[in-house]
Amino acid sequence: MNSIEKKLSDCVESIRQRTDFKPLVALVLGSGLGDYGDTDAVRVECRIPYSEIEGFPVSTVAGHKGQFIFGYVQEVPVVIMQGRVHYYEGYAMSDVVLPTRLMGRLGAKCLFLTNAAGGVNETFRPGDFMVLRDHISVFVPSPLIGENIDSLGPRFADMSEVYDKDLRQLIHEAADTLQISLKEGVYTQLTGPAYETPAEIRLLQRLGCDAVGMSTVCEAVAANHMGLKICGISCITNMAAGLGVAKLSHAEVQETADRVSRDFKRLVTETIGRIGRMLG
Ligand code: HPA
Repeated sequence: MNSIEKKLSDCVESIRQRTDFKPLVALVLGSGLGDYGDTDAVRVECRIPYSEIEGFPVSTVAGHKGQFIFGYVQEVPVVIMQGRVHYYEGYAMSDVVLPTRLMGRLGAKCLFLTNAAGGVNETFRPGDFMVLRDHISVFVPSPLIGENIDSLGPRFADMSEVYDKDLRQLIHEAADTLQISLKEGVYTQLTGPAYETPAEIRLLQRLGCDAVGMSTVCEAVAANHMGLKICGISCITNMAAGLGVAKLSHAEVQETADRVSRDFKRLVTETIGRIGRMLG
């Protein structure tokens, strides 16, 4: 057993000592959704702080709480990551995706990723939501580099439909029902932690990118390797560098995320209900 696999099974074991909860959906909370697990959308069964899981990477970003929440959203069993681990914090990519793999190992069949992102597509506006249709991963190292863990997935994983078509459709239907308008596009992960330069944003525009952020893609790559169904929604918190008037700041990102968080939560809840009916 290689060291990543060993770490993963140690984490599974440490969770299994606390709960035998079997999630269907694994939900990763981005900015604006941080307190989703504390709302009445979730009937909580159990919370496990990352710090209580042996060998688990603990996020350093202020405002990222760092715990798994096990519970039910519209009767669908979910595991929620409140606080994700970012590559820019200095962790190895294999540690950044450890939580994702762990949720897969706990039984999740679907990974639902959310994030805050900068709008690269000039038709977008702060406060918009974007369903991920595809991603560009070439600016961050692959979490699959190194000895392949055959028990997780194949050496050469297909990536032709990372974001499941049926799940994307289902998010659009959920948004229609709630009368929330929705964009769809390509998300690019850069390492951060600095925001991009205007020249980098023009580069991304030419590459066909619609939104940019510092997470999500590596998690999708790891989950795709394991054969999970994946979907994702970005909250466009700001226009990317050079496209808006003001300089970029974390305060602006947080402010927009907070402003639209009520709709973001409604959309996530409605979508999970539908995922439950589709996969359950
Ligand atoms: N760039 C990168 N990451 C982000 C941004 C951005 O403009 N907004 C929110 N996360």
